[in-house]
Amino acid sequence: MYLPSFSLDGKIAIVTGAGRGIGQAIAIGFAEAGADVALLSRTEVDLKKTAAEVERFGRKAYIIPCDVTKRDEVKNAIALVAEEAGKIDILVNNAGMNIRSRALEATDEEWQTIMDTNLKSAFMASQEAGMYFKEQSGGRIINITSVGGHVALRTGVVYAATKAALIQMTKVLALEWGQYNVNINAIGPWYFRTPLTKALLEDEEYVNDILAVTPLKRIGELEELVGPAVFFASDASKYITGQTLFVDGGMTIHGF
Ligand SMILES: NC(=O)c1ccc[n+]([C@@H]2O[C@H](COP(=O)([O-])OP(=O)(O)OC[C@H]3O[C@@H](n4cnc5c(N)ncnc54)[C@H](OP(=O)(O)O)[C@@H]3O)[C@@H](O)[C@H]2O)c1
Repeated sequence: MYLPSFSLDGKIAIVTGAGRGIGQAIAIGFAEAGADVALLSRTEVDLKKTAAEVERFGRKAYIIPCDVTKRDEVKNAIALVAEEAGKIDILVNNAGMNIRSRALEATDEEWQTIMDTNLKSAFMASQEAGMYFKEQSGGRIINITSVGGHVALRTGVVYAATKAALIQMTKVLALEWGQYNVNINAIGPWYFRTPLTKALLEDEEYVNDILAVTPLKRIGELEELVGPAVFFASDASKYITGQTLFVDGGMTIHGF
């Protein structure tokens, strides 16, 4: 018997930014794979929609409105899951945003907002969940970075800096917490259709530019991110830590 288990049966997962887009797809995919899922974002009405989908698979959804840039809200949200579910197995740091200012125009406020939302939030949630993981001697963290954290894109320098930092944070947390049996990996998406990218992907010229550097010649489908997320959350990846998997139709293999 060599086939490891991809099942998340009996697991408790926390997904930030689960109200729409990639976080919503991962939360629902985790439920399909057998996990109960705690859904975090600032907009409760969105979380309720995701919760209804999670429940369709017979799994429990915890609806937890939370601004992930605020330490007290993150701490309380994670403590609430640990208390109600009795444990935490998986944390997905997915909440993110972008303001695509050019470098000379970006303001201090933009820098702070993007850093807090994309990077500081992931660190704070990892710390808060990490305390439980250490106690339990086990846990998984999946950070949603971006192709833009690895190669230079014209999507804004501050966003790129946060996503590059997430890749390095993934490695250093993996180094520190391997001894606690905690695996930390990252997923780096290329373009997927979500509210974040809607306007960009409605621009035919922009889409043609994307496809020109995408060997698979199409935009990704959200479920194509769910497989890698389930893999990193499940026993199938238990000897993998500190890695970033680019789900990019081959974009990052490009040379000339
Ligand atoms: N879509 C792509 O092509 C793509 C490519 C590469 C990387 N990514 C990354 O994938 C992640 C998800 O992106 P997406 O495209 O799914 O974006 P999206 O559709 O805009 O969804 C973002 C989610 O994050 C939540 N969020 C944002 N700020 C938050 C805060 N302060 N506190 C709590 N929740 C917050 C949003 O909910 P509220 O606003 O209601 O709080 C929403 O649920 C992001 O980290 C993004 O950088 C996306």
